[in-house]
Amino acid sequence: MTEVQRSGTGSGPEIENLLAESRAFPPDPAFAAQANATAELYEEAAADPVAFWERRAREKLTWTRPFERTLEWDLPFAKWFVGGQLNVAYDCVDRHVEAGLGDKVAYHWIGEPGDRRTLTFADLQREVSKAANALRELGVQTGDRVAIYMPMIPELPIAMLACARIGAPHTVVFGGFSAEALAGRINDAQAKLLITADGGWRRGKAVDLKSAADEALRDTPTIERVLVVRRVGGAVASSMAAGRDVWWHELVERQPPECLPVPVDSEHLLYLLYTSGTTAKPKGIVHTSAGYLLGTSVTHEMIFDAKPDDVYWCAADIGWVTGHSYIVYGPLANGTTGVLYEGAPDTPDWDRWWQIVEELGVTILYTAPTAIRAFMKQGDALPAKHDLSSLRVLGSVGEPINPEAWLWYQRNIGGGRCPVVDTWWQTETGMILITPLPGVTTTKPGSATSPFPGIDADVVDGEGRPVPLGEGGYLVLRRPWPAMLRGIYGDPDRYRETYWSRFPGMYFAGDGARRDEDGYFWLLGRVDDVMNVAGHRISTIEVESALVGHPSVAEAAVVGKTDPVSGQAIFAFVTIRVGVESADALGRELREHVGRAIGPIARPKYLLFTPDLPKTRSGKIVRRLLRDVAEGAPLGDTTTLADPASWRPSAPVPPELRKNEPAIGLSRIGWMRRSDP
Ligand code: PRX
Repeated sequence: MTEVQRSGTGSGPEIENLLAESRAFPPDPAFAAQANATAELYEEAAADPVAFWERRAREKLTWTRPFERTLEWDLPFAKWFVGGQLNVAYDCVDRHVEAGLGDKVAYHWIGEPGDRRTLTFADLQREVSKAANALRELGVQTGDRVAIYMPMIPELPIAMLACARIGAPHTVVFGGFSAEALAGRINDAQAKLLITADGGWRRGKAVDLKSAADEALRDTPTIERVLVVRRVGGAVASSMAAGRDVWWHELVERQPPECLPVPVDSEHLLYLLYTSGTTAKPKGIVHTSAGYLLGTSVTHEMIFDAKPDDVYWCAADIGWVTGHSYIVYGPLANGTTGVLYEGAPDTPDWDRWWQIVEELGVTILYTAPTAIRAFMKQGDALPAKHDLSSLRVLGSVGEPINPEAWLWYQRNIGGGRCPVVDTWWQTETGMILITPLPGVTTTKPGSATSPFPGIDADVVDGEGRPVPLGEGGYLVLRRPWPAMLRGIYGDPDRYRETYWSRFPGMYFAGDGARRDEDGYFWLLGRVDDVMNVAGHRISTIEVESALVGHPSVAEAAVVGKTDPVSGQAIFAFVTIRVGVESADALGRELREHVGRAIGPIARPKYLLFTPDLPKTRSGKIVRRLLRDVAEGAPLGDTTTLADPASWRPSAPVPPELRKNEPAIGLSRIGWMRRSDP
């Protein structure tokens, strides 16, 4: 196997299964007859990709000033729809109301405890306008950054749209991130205002957000005011800082219900979203207004076949890019009715989602392989208890989907009748780039199939040469696309270096991929030091630097280990300082320490104390060896442990770390050169 195949998610037998997968699902003619997408889209885009987007930009978006040039491409810096002006919130909300759709539902919201709220487009227009007026009263002006740290409640999209309405870029920080992570993002963005909530409901408990926000705010000099939604009431003991904090229900509710949307340039900063890279410092990915809105709305319409009567549910959290693009901006620009659910999929029971699908008549469902595998583990009976016949399109995103999970989803959730779209994209790409088009593409379980019309994706070898069909390599993109990142906030050099330097003239996504004999794309996971845990990107180095931040830790190395549910799980190798005892209690403490530093999702599932770490002469940790050890490769297996430094562990991984449950290992593995006795 090549390096690319070995190092990605699901290396080993999983990938072998994936590549042996030969089942194919041609489109159902009845679906194809009504589909938004047609095969001609590919031809139209191939003939002139820029004209393809230009035409749709004129048709789909409402401009306050038409654009003059479709694309200015000064590699690697793109500008789309130059000279044009629009307002993203107007395009997402007001124009639907003006078109007579004010009574159409924009969001069906369901709180975890069972409370509900329905917001029509007219409601959304009023709420967004009031919130925008409140932002102004708090001193926020066009161009000022606003940080948002909230649970999945209607005020979250309302806050984002309120920012867009006055041209104040937002940066949403996932509610599961720690105070420290929040502070880092606020400081990088130099945000002036924080919008948060007292808490949110998760697995029957109130998660206290305000205390985490307060902790973050000790170290964020740019924040002037804090706007707080009351969600959980007395369930958490939060306090309001006089002169700084103001309740949403007191400030927003008394605002006038009208607020003129501020027209902004196409390239005006819409938002920053921080994502993990290969260093300890998350990158602020820059997304701008018109191209992003166009890219997300066109893909949403074509890939999910979104129609006026659909009830569409993207079950992600808005704190991630999936939620930005496919819960908020794309679907709202299309005037789609969406579903928002606050809580966990297993609360009160593992059929909560199927209950919601049945109750609301959900027609399109978009989720992640981790969720699908978790449901699969619970068996077929729970979805079977519910009438899921309203569903007509199923989507997957965030990680490679194994064929077994794809087929289970297709059969048990889609009743065998729904096209399944496995969509590949990234925080950086803003919009889906590799995907089937339902009604057009013959799908193969586990393959994201082919690039969206107008997207030039390829798989290249280490020198940037396209690999022959049937072989693996690095996924690259050659041409700019409207929703692409415009840079890393405040750091153009890092932008160039991270994405455009590995292969000159090409965007390097950091993923391995393979094309089969039919030209289908099979994503093989990350090839860099980024893990994908339950569809969330976490850098090995972020976790390592959190670990070494603990006084007992001398050194740490972190790798991703294949996990049957979350795709990858975090495996940490830890060397402690002289005089410290390695003990179960310390292992637990370190795990919690990482949780506090980054967030619970970054807590290592496996933690192994080792007296030292395997390093090359130049001091670089031999990660590949650690990956093999974490995967439980047999000791001394020369095929799996083949690496330039020829290292091997002195003892096997303790049995408790080979089970599929969180564990701490105390055994004393050392690292020996293969030539050592
Ligand atoms: O490795 C790829 C994986 O998720 C990464 C992007 O993560 P993030 O920026 O957090 O965005 C996730 C949601 C768009 C990619 O580099 N990934 C995403 N979708 C797929 C995928 N891997 C395989 N198949 C997919 N469909």
